[in-house]
This record gives sequence, C-alpha cells and structure tokens, in this order.
Amino acid sequence: MAGKDKLIIFDTTLRDGEQSPGASMTREEKLRIAKGLEKMRVDVIEAGFPAASPGDFESVKAVAQAVQDSTVCGLARAKEGDIERAGEAIKPAKSGRIHTFLATSPIHMQYKLKMTADEVVEQAVKAVGWARRYTDNVEFSPEDAGRSELDFLCRVIEAVIDAGATTINIPDTVGYNIPQQFGELMKNLLERIPNSDKAVFSVHCHNDLGLAVANSLAAVLQGARQVECTINGLGERAGNAALEEIVMAVRTRQDVFPCDTDLDTTQILPCSRLVSTITGFPVQPNKAIVGANAFAHESGIHQDGVLKHRDTYEIMRAQDVGWSDNRIVLGKHSGRNAFRTRLKELAIEFDSEEELNEAFARFKDLADKKHEIFDEDLQALVTEASMAM
Ligand code: KIV
Ligand code: ZN
Repeated sequence: MAGKDKLIIFDTTLRDGEQSPGASMTREEKLRIAKGLEKMRVDVIEAGFPAASPGDFESVKAVAQAVQDSTVCGLARAKEGDIERAGEAIKPAKSGRIHTFLATSPIHMQYKLKMTADEVVEQAVKAVGWARRYTDNVEFSPEDAGRSELDFLCRVIEAVIDAGATTINIPDTVGYNIPQQFGELMKNLLERIPNSDKAVFSVHCHNDLGLAVANSLAAVLQGARQVECTINGLGERAGNAALEEIVMAVRTRQDVFPCDTDLDTTQILPCSRLVSTITGFPVQPNKAIVGANAFAHESGIHQDGVLKHRDTYEIMRAQDVGWSDNRIVLGKHSGRNAFRTRLKELAIEFDSEEELNEAFARFKDLADKKHEIFDEDLQALVTEASMAM
C-alpha cells in the first residue's frame, strides 16, 4: 500500500444489514459477527441503532465492550434522545463513533420530516453538537443525498463540518443513482465545499438497481475514502454494497484505484458463511467472491486453460478470499484434460489409452444425465470401463 491512501471500510451488516426483513439478530449473534469483522480488520463496525429498542442498545454496548481493534459505531437520528442512547451504548468502546443522519432531499423534507431547508440545517448542526458531547468521532449523513439538490447539500455539509463532524457520509438511500452521476456528485462536493478537507468523505449505496458496488467505486475514484458496506450485500430492500466485492475490486484493480484497504481478505469467506448461517440468508451460487461457483470451472475450454495457467480464467486467487482452492467441476461441458487430471488426483491409472477413451465416453454419457459428476461416480465408471475392455 506504499504511497496509496487508505480506504476505510465501515461495515454496517449489524445495522443496515439487520434492517433486511427477516435478518434481525440477537446480542450473541451480533457479538459473533462483530468478532469476525474485527478479525478481518474492518475499520468501523456499525453495531446497531441503540434508540431502536432496549435489545439493540444492549447489543451495541456488548459489541463496544468486546471489540478492541475496530471502531464501534452507533446510529442515531438527529434527535437529542437518540444521540444520548447512542452515546451511552458506545461508551465502553476503546474507539467509539456516533453516526447521526437527517434527510436533505426535497421529497423527504416535505413529506417525511415536514421541515424547511433552514430547519434541516439547524437541526443537523445541533445533532452534531449533541454527538460531540460523547465523542469527537462524529459522522453525519444527509439521508437521500442521491436525490438532494447540490447547493443545499453543500450548505448542510459545510455547516456540519464547522459543527465538528469528522466523517461525511453520502448515502444513495434508495439506490437511484448511476455510477457516472454518483461519481460526479462526490467530485462536486469535494470541490465546492470550502472545508471539505476537514472531514473524510464516505459513501453508502443501496442496490435497488443493482448498482450499489459500481456507485461506491465511482465515488472512491472521485475522492471518497470510506465505503459503507455489508457482508453478502445484506441490507434494506435489495441490500447495500457488498463488502467482499468492494474490497476485492479495489485490491484486484490497484492499477486503477489510488487507495487500498487494510483488510485481511482471507477472512472474507468465513465472515460470509457466518452471516449467512446466522441470518438464514443463503448466498447464491453465482455470487461474486463468496458464491460456491465464484472459483469453479465446468467448461472444458476454461478447465483446460486454468490447468495450463490459472490467469487464463481467474483474476484473483481463491485462497486470498478464504477458499482452500479453485474447483474443477466435472460435468457435461468438461473436457479430457480435466477428466484425466481428476483421475490422476484420485490415483486412478489406466493400462492403455483405449481404456481411458472408454472411461471418458462413459463419463460423457453420465454427465448428460447428472448436473455434476462426483469422485464416487468416477470410481464407479472407471471400474465399469476396465471390466468392459
Ligand atoms: O441508506 C441510508 O440513507 C442510511 C442512512 C442511515 C445512512 O442507511
Ligand atoms: Zn442505508
């Protein structure tokens, strides 16, 4: 990472991820995930929303007590009572943060908050001031920034930085933006806000159009230095930007990104499995990085390429994200090279090329009837082939 900026990873699996319908977690479950995130060296763990319920207050407090190496954050609306609860919950943390938010888009201000623009600025500044009573690590989010007016956004952000906010998080709350537009937004904010150098700018993207990761990365390319994300992309509605995708995109494309994370990426798969087991949300097989097929090859052409040189069809090492290795799957698209290699690994040898050809023909017949051919299938068909000769 020499000469590169640090990209801060703010994991919100325990807060925004938990807001996914059906994903709520007990204190013990949150603690297990928080320990996994800490082991992965995530910089900030948003452990919950302490004012939401007494249980969530206790969860955030327990995480704040247990975690030593990551900053523990509690979310709070821009209300004194919420901020007080968040401040109390993060008190035991070695490093604690309060994240407060207030909507800035016309639609949210008019219909949800029923507040004028001036009132929103005033309330946001007050909220940051209340949070500063508990910690000097204060994050402010103008909720629905992705649909807010640029001039107003600049005004609010300048005011909250003056009030002491040290991180400014730009959420695309409803996943409405497209990458070029969201990158432009980040660029404009950094250029136009006179005190923007006094805070770290962050992004928080939702996946309603499947663009959460792309939008986050576009903002990083324009100067954002914190990304808010969740394991497996868990989160409200279609989810949040997936941590594993953000981290590996930045790591794999260091030719493009001027920054990198400090994460131990080998912990990605264990964390993904832990979150999936605890929430009961399965990971789809074709999910990038952590899906069962992410490093599996079934087609003969790909298998042949990978067996000759991995880089032909792999842009990352499976081991770097926690897999034991890549996987050659034997199926109807597989070729002779993969078949022969697998047999060799199973210490199965043939007396003649003819016998191998007979076994390969039987393998193709079976593969037409079965999705995947396992080692036991191979043992059986090789025995049949040698008996037939
Ligand atoms: O999506 C959102 O706007 C949020 C805020 C609380 C940051 O989750
Ligand atoms: Zn969110």
